[in-house]
Amino acid sequence: METARGFYFNRKDKVFYTRPIISSDKVFLKDGFKLLSLRSRFNRFLSFLKGLTEEQLTFYTEVDNTNHVAWGILEVTGGVSKPAGIGRFVRVKDEPETAEVGLTIVDVYQKNGLGTLLLAILNMESLRCGIKKLRYHVVESNFGMRKLLEPLDYVVKLTDQGVMIVETPVFGNFQDLPQQAKGKKIEETWKEVTFNMERK
Ligand SMILES: CC(C)(COP(=O)(O)OP(=O)(O)OC[C@H]1O[C@@H](n2cnc3c(N)ncnc32)[C@H](O)[C@@H]1OP(=O)(O)O)[C@@H](O)C(=O)NCCC(=O)NCCS
Repeated sequence: METARGFYFNRKDKVFYTRPIISSDKVFLKDGFKLLSLRSRFNRFLSFLKGLTEEQLTFYTEVDNTNHVAWGILEVTGGVSKPAGIGRFVRVKDEPETAEVGLTIVDVYQKNGLGTLLLAILNMESLRCGIKKLRYHVVESNFGMRKLLEPLDYVVKLTDQGVMIVETPVFGNFQDLPQQAKGKKIEETWKEVTFNMERK
């Protein structure tokens, strides 16, 4: 089954567009990376990366939509596209039903629900790809990411040098969400994403 097409959505007074990443998105990745604080870079890459190499840009944008799935969010208010976030999963070699997730929201857009939206998309895409478990590397002090995963039955598998390896089951539809997610913003977002992805 093919990946869904993109869709528009609003948060506060801004308009956003989310869609699968394509190879010509390298420029958005480069620009978006420059807008990340040191803390965000560390939380995402577990090091204070100064920039993305050509090799990384190729890896991050030339995806097969089955073993490596990536979606980006652009802010498109007023007709100008600005990079706002990106989320991906990569299937783990030798564990075909598990994938590792990387999620980044540009600092100025954080705490607006964009991380939750990308997470919902990645869960639905996981279902499409036969992935049953998602794995995250979360810096212990990354309370944003911990808050995001809290309603999703997350289990800490290991903590090593301040980094937790966390796993959640895949919740491919809002109806599957665990009880503690019901009636919360996360459930609304899952419904919004289910609706938009099923419409395609
Ligand atoms: C972690 C991250 C993805 C969260 O994305 P986001 O768009 O800010 O998250 P949301 O707005 O969807 O927030 C989800 C919940 O977490 C809370 N939250 C977000 N950032 C927070 C923070 N820094 N401290 C405490 N709570 C936070 C939100 O208030 C929200 O709670 P609510 O549902 O009760 O309102 C984003 O901060 C980020 O990209 N950070 C840098 C890279 C990173 O840490 N990646 C994760 C490693 S895989």
